[in-house]
Amino acid sequence: MKDYLLFAGSSNQALASEVAKQLHINLGKVELTRFADGEVRPWIQEDVRDKTVFVLQSFSNPMDAYIMEMALMGDAIRRSAPKTMIAVIPYMGYSRQDKQHRIGEPISARVIAKFIEVSKFKEVIVVDLHNDAIVGFFQIPVTHISAMSVLVDAIKKLCVKDPVVVSPDVGGVRRARNFAYQLDADLIVMEKKRFIDRHDTSENFQIIGDVKGRTAIMNDDIISTGGTIMHGAEALRQAGATSVIVCAAHAVLAGDAKENLEKAKIDHLIVTDTIVAADDRLPKGTTVVSVAPVIASAISTIIR
Ligand code: R5P
Repeated sequence: MKDYLLFAGSSNQALASEVAKQLHINLGKVELTRFADGEVRPWIQEDVRDKTVFVLQSFSNPMDAYIMEMALMGDAIRRSAPKTMIAVIPYMGYSRQDKQHRIGEPISARVIAKFIEVSKFKEVIVVDLHNDAIVGFFQIPVTHISAMSVLVDAIKKLCVKDPVVVSPDVGGVRRARNFAYQLDADLIVMEKKRFIDRHDTSENFQIIGDVKGRTAIMNDDIISTGGTIMHGAEALRQAGATSVIVCAAHAVLAGDAKENLEKAKIDHLIVTDTIVAADDRLPKGTTVVSVAPVIASAISTIIR
């Protein structure tokens, strides 16, 4: 009998099952029902006493419901005396609200970190935070892992000639630099302007570097409305890129994302399964690679 358990919230059971498979365990039994008024009612159906208990939940849409479900699962587990309880968050919604963009707004990512802590989780595993500094919002240990290795493997399979990695904004330069290093490619940067009073809108792409005659690999952490990708790909084509490949860790796919991605002048789209990808929201031909091995490896390191 293993002395650890993995439970899945309802946000991404497919990924949780895949992680369990990699760890050669079954998912812990939990019943997740709702009362008639919508209140969630988790019921943990395993003996968790003295065990290390992992709970996997992505904070994707509907993020508020999933965060509350995670908190209540945490409370249910900690009342049965586990050894420790660890939150596994493949996608941490609210992570883009990591600073006070204007007076009168919250620093939401910090509030979410506090929420995890008051729910009695003693450690966190999280995949590709929007900003590394979010780790500092937690008082508990954070294992910050990356989907980069699985995305790099998928790109390598395409045998791209003369690649250049593109950061779609200045904030993503460090991530794109690491990506470029792993592909032994050059790096160029785009400058994207956002408008504080217009949600989810980006315009004015300037390219710092030369993409003429090359394959541009745009690497972003999140695809939300797909606007960044659509406008960025257009700018790269105008600057002479012969081909555009896009890869991102988190396929949030909000609003008109599918239409925007279908319109975008891109040759390949590669995303991961940190968020459940309903097939009808992804453009045809999208490659979805799994972060399960990366999460399973982080869990193995903790329980070894
Ligand atoms: C922003 O800083 C992020 O890294 C992404 O570029 C952004 O969230 C993408 O949003 P959208 O797909 O709506 O342009």
